[in-house]
Amino acid sequence: MSMMETDRILLRPWLESDAPALFKHASDPEVGPRAGWPPHKSMEESLKIIRTVFHDATNTWAIVLKETGEPIGAMGYGPSCNCNLPAREGEPLTGYWVARPYWNRGICTEALRLMIGHIRQTTDIKSLISGHFIDNPASGRVMEKCGFIPTGETVVDPDQGRDTPIRVLRLEL
Ligand SMILES: CC(C)(COP(=O)(O)OP(=O)(O)OC[C@H]1O[C@@H](n2cnc3c(N)ncnc32)[C@H](O)[C@@H]1OP(=O)(O)O)[C@@H](O)C(=O)NCCC(=O)NCCS
Repeated sequence: MSMMETDRILLRPWLESDAPALFKHASDPEVGPRAGWPPHKSMEESLKIIRTVFHDATNTWAIVLKETGEPIGAMGYGPSCNCNLPAREGEPLTGYWVARPYWNRGICTEALRLMIGHIRQTTDIKSLISGHFIDNPASGRVMEKCGFIPTGETVVDPDQGRDTPIRVLRLEL
């Protein structure tokens, strides 16, 4: 289990007791859909996400504001096999979000830099892939500030309900 920190944020594993904070922020309709997932509808759903999607403490972290101790976002990486991006064999996908009241303060960039440093120090992963909807340029800025290079565009599987093009970026580690 690993934790990382800067002066203002901590990346730590998710706890079941984070469900109320997760529900508060992940029920915001401006957050999940930009990352391709629907807003959470209940605290039970948020708890289930903590137990399933966020259960692996080796590659998924809560972004916690040290000043308040509140989880205000998520940072992680994992298998890219189901993401429909043109990933290399075994190349992990990076994903993240930050709660709306905290946007544009550099928090996601700080969190992504922490995770990249951790991956460099503790794994032999050679590169990371990620993508963002072209109408969500803030996410692209975060990746570019952390060294990701654009590699082209793709369209998400229409079964996932959205045909907006995705801009694909890669970080060579
Ligand atoms: C994308 C997201 C994670 C960014 O988090 P954040 O903590 O605000 O990011 P940062 O403050 O570190 O950086 C944001 C950058 O985007 C820029 N930005 C914000 N809105 C923008 C816009 N409409 N167009 C272009 N750039 C924009 C900011 O100016 C900043 O860049 P700068 O430092 O060069 O000025 C956050 O907005 C979010 O969670 N959105 C919803 C979920 C999501 O999109 N997840 C990613 C899916 S790929």
